[in-house]
Amino acid sequence: MNRSENKPRDDFEEKLVDEADLVGRIAALKKERNAVILAHNYQRPEVQDIGDFVGDSLGLAQKAAETEAEIIVFCGVHFMAETASILNPQKIILLPEIEAGCPMADMVTPAALIEERRRHPQAAVVAYVNTTAAVKAESDYCCTSANAVEVVKAVPQDEIIFIPDGNLARYVASKVEDKRIIPWHGFCHVHQGITPDDIKKARESHPEAEVITHPECTQEVIALADHVRSTSGMVQAALSSPAGEFIVATEAGMLHPLSKAVPGKNFFVPPGQHLCPNMKLTTLSKVLRSLETLEPRVKVPEEIRVKALKAVECMLELGRP
Ligand code: 13P
Ligand code: SF4
Repeated sequence: MNRSENKPRDDFEEKLVDEADLVGRIAALKKERNAVILAHNYQRPEVQDIGDFVGDSLGLAQKAAETEAEIIVFCGVHFMAETASILNPQKIILLPEIEAGCPMADMVTPAALIEERRRHPQAAVVAYVNTTAAVKAESDYCCTSANAVEVVKAVPQDEIIFIPDGNLARYVASKVEDKRIIPWHGFCHVHQGITPDDIKKARESHPEAEVITHPECTQEVIALADHVRSTSGMVQAALSSPAGEFIVATEAGMLHPLSKAVPGKNFFVPPGQHLCPNMKLTTLSKVLRSLETLEPRVKVPEEIRVKALKAVECMLELGRP
């Protein structure tokens, strides 16, 4: 066998050695630094696999609040690391790729929110956790996709400005009919890109499958769903349903935690490229570098942190329904 026939196998093995080496070095440094690695369900599979905890925004915030580690390495996007900083002012919060943001979180600014409040002086502001810390500081309550309906039900006001995700706002409004929800005009480009036609096509290919959607999907897609859940809620739905196949309408990275947690069942994403580029920016090399250099850090300024904490604490108090 000549060298060129051998090459693809060599490359493959080299990659495995590199990855094993990175994983080993990350584990050793994490211990030495007394760090914890928190990873979101949409992260690259190899990044999820080094996480001490992998979960949805609520689970990650709960772990960030509980941890005794001195350093939190956040494998996710910027607002998630900010939430960890709001809860842990004394800790070092590392975001291995500082450019990893959430475009939807940037669709509302503090100034625009203050203006909207002026238009609706009686309304409370419920901020989805996918917002900047500065926006949370101007909000009354915070929620995640796992507890948005429960948070809105618990709010004493009858009128609620719900920011920034219009799809989640409309989903919540459909479940809490006795309150007037004023939706903001934000959206997640990944979930907005999943169409009813995609779900119908996936159903034609997998007629026995149940459909699980994220509440960031459009109302038309949600209308076709058997289950509407946060990312970790999707795992619970797949575990408790008698069905053996599921069409999962969310970011494609979700197939990894689902297949790991529910190995006997089959999961499919609707046709198309449903990927969040920001969630894929974090790599093993960047995690290692951040543990070596203790950079890049996310630290919410104290005056913003104190104001935002109140809203984030409400979100944690209500927890999971
Ligand atoms: P979850 O909290 O459901 O994991 O959602 C986070 C997110 O960014 C969805 O796009
Ligand atoms: Fe933001 Fe959507 Fe990416 Fe989630 S999937 S981080 S909401 S852009």
